[in-house]
Amino acid sequence: MAEQPMIVHDPAGVRLATHPDYPVFKHVVPLPSISLMDSIGAATLENFFIVAEAWASVVSRFAPTGASVLDIGCGCGRTARLLLLRPDLTYLGFDVFKPAIEWAEAYLSPLSGGRFRFAHVDGHSAHYNPRGALASRDVVFPAADGRTDVAFAASLFTHLLEPDAEHYLAESARCLRRGGVLVASIHDEPPPGVRYAGREDRIDVERGYFVTLAGRAGFALREDLGALCGQTALAFERR
Ligand SMILES: C[S@@+](CC[C@H](N)C(=O)[O-])C[C@H]1O[C@@H](n2cnc3c(N)ncnc32)[C@H](O)[C@@H]1O
Repeated sequence: MAEQPMIVHDPAGVRLATHPDYPVFKHVVPLPSISLMDSIGAATLENFFIVAEAWASVVSRFAPTGASVLDIGCGCGRTARLLLLRPDLTYLGFDVFKPAIEWAEAYLSPLSGGRFRFAHVDGHSAHYNPRGALASRDVVFPAADGRTDVAFAASLFTHLLEPDAEHYLAESARCLRRGGVLVASIHDEPPPGVRYAGREDRIDVERGYFVTLAGRAGFALREDLGALCGQTALAFERR
């Protein structure tokens, strides 16, 4: 069977506006445009909110009071918008899809009193940033060594080729303090006999192999969180 062509998210086609159907209320985080929701795979507002609540709950569970949080592949801040309700947290999100970062900087950061910031990294992704200047395996996370308490990657490893995933695990380990936690989701249904499979529009990895890759980067599995919004979520501790 012929392979399906890869859908490419074109930054030029994205509206840096709020959602057309809902007004913006003072002190309330606005909703992103439909094109931004499309860019993170949220086909409906219901899905957008369910995924947001699920990830914010899980991240909050692992984030001690005053935690510094790193959101790897943050998109337009779907999880960040609920983490904003925790006044003790500081947060840095980054992503290769520039419109999402521009939107989050414009609409979320101002509501955070300087605690939340969003950064663009120009890593190449055939699906999300085909004109990216850097190979993803050369991306340096915009965070200092050993200062992050909780890092999370919501549906990010589901889009990373194996060498990029290995590099992102190593960068996560560099940024986390000892004992810090990485929560990451994967699709874990590669074809039989294959450990790591797919293209940047959907990657599958054997759960055990992902734990091995994380182990090589300096992580121990702390908790298998099971199913989370159609993916499998794992919490690792930085050794
Ligand atoms: C399915 S979306 C999830 C976005 C966000 N985590 C959320 O839950 O709303 C996947 C995100 O990963 C980002 N992404 C893909 N490859 C990346 C890379 N190499 N580095 C950083 N972000 C990447 C995409 O631009 C996209 O925003």
